[in-house]
Amino acid sequence: MNKISFKIGLFFFLSVLILEAISMFFLHDNIIHSRVHDELSALQTRGNNHREILEASYHDETIRHIALMESRTDTQVILTNLNGTINMSSNTVTPEMKRIIKSTPKDIPHEGMILEDDWKNEPYIASVSPVKMKGTDYGYVYMFQNTQKIKELISGLNRHFLLAGILSLIFMFIMIVFLTRFVTHPLIKMSEATKRMSKGDFSVSLPKLGKDEMGVLGESIAILARDLEVLKNERNEFLASISHELRTPLTYIKGYADIARRPETKQADREQYLGIIHEESDKMTKLVKELFNLAKMDENIFSIEKDMVDLQPFLLSIYEKMIPAFRENDMELNFECPTQLQALIDPTRFEQVIVNLLDNARKYSEPYTKVTLEAGEKSGQIIITVRDQGRGIPAEDLPRIFERFYRVDKSRARSLGGSGLGLSIVKQLVEAHGGTITVESEPDMGTVFQIML
Ligand SMILES: Nc1ncnc2c1ncn2[C@@H]1O[C@H](COP(=O)(O)OP(=O)(O)OP(=O)(O)O)[C@@H](O)[C@H]1O
Ligand SMILES: [Mg+2]
Repeated sequence: MNKISFKIGLFFFLSVLILEAISMFFLHDNIIHSRVHDELSALQTRGNNHREILEASYHDETIRHIALMESRTDTQVILTNLNGTINMSSNTVTPEMKRIIKSTPKDIPHEGMILEDDWKNEPYIASVSPVKMKGTDYGYVYMFQNTQKIKELISGLNRHFLLAGILSLIFMFIMIVFLTRFVTHPLIKMSEATKRMSKGDFSVSLPKLGKDEMGVLGESIAILARDLEVLKNERNEFLASISHELRTPLTYIKGYADIARRPETKQADREQYLGIIHEESDKMTKLVKELFNLAKMDENIFSIEKDMVDLQPFLLSIYEKMIPAFRENDMELNFECPTQLQALIDPTRFEQVIVNLLDNARKYSEPYTKVTLEAGEKSGQIIITVRDQGRGIPAEDLPRIFERFYRVDKSRARSLGGSGLGLSIVKQLVEAHGGTITVESEPDMGTVFQIML
């Protein structure tokens, strides 16, 4: 048996035991007391009745009649004169009776009195009623009753009490076992559930416990498990996004560093690559700093801080940064954007969107194809398009490419270092800007991603 149920059980058992013992003791005492009291007063009343008859007519006939009446009962009547000489007895007079008669005090009230009430130790209980004729004492009516009958009565009563006591103890024991089970079973279940939760298993299922405190506790644990699971998933998603955000610029930094190191690279190009590397490193430093702040605040999302941004220079700088990578793949990257086009965006976050789209266009296209980055305005909406002439996306995959970790050709995509996160981040960021993104694609013809703000 486990500890808490044992403690509760023992506590219950002891308190009920004490309560029961005390109440049983008082009940027992009361019953015996009133039984004995009844017997004594019945005896005295009987004596008084005889005395009244005698006072009404003191004749030999009456005395004989009384003796006859008593000889058939378990009580015994003795009639004495004032100095204790026995005039009549309904049965044989024993030495104990004589001793009790001798102990009769003077001045007995007319309603009589109890002479012996020690039913435990004496063979008889006894009462005396004085007989008065014309105002003077005339003699005494003694009544005796064997205490054997009372003793039997009381030992019978004790047997009943013992039986009731044992039965109630057994009943109490069973009750307590069930009660503690009932109370501690859900507690044990809950502690098991929390143990599993601490090991990272949030699939806790607690039995329905009703609306009491136990039920509320169970409910809270279930809610806690659900919240923790959500938090854990959020954290995982966030970490995946972060690693993507760090990985994409890092691959470009590494790629450009590799090109810059080549001896045949022209000095002017080398300086351009080093410039991009420097700029990207600065951005990444900022990103890591922001990440650290988020960790301190225990938040799982990057905030979006929108600013009025001139799209032409903004997109141009991204274009310039990407162009060496395209050139490296023998691909063409075109850029078209009217001046004076403004949008309310978070430049850091939005750059990530464009870079991810351009990165995909480059990765999933063959050499000597063309990619276009295009921005324009149509009926008050800003439209940014990334168009490639690559391998395209099969129609059956098209609805799923924005899902996290979804890749069309798993093995190919992996050889290109893809994790399937890019487009899900793009969609999330575009929607966080209040925009929409759509895709159109035809296999072996090309793909068009269109952002509307
Ligand atoms: N321009 C495109 N042309 C053809 N297929 C594309 C294009 N863009 C995305 N896809 C397909 O959609 C999938 C999902 O793209 P996503 O950018 O989400 O992941 P990824 O590029 O594989 O990996 P990551 O961007 O995380 O490095 C890609 O694996 C690819 O199969
Ligand atoms: Mg991608």
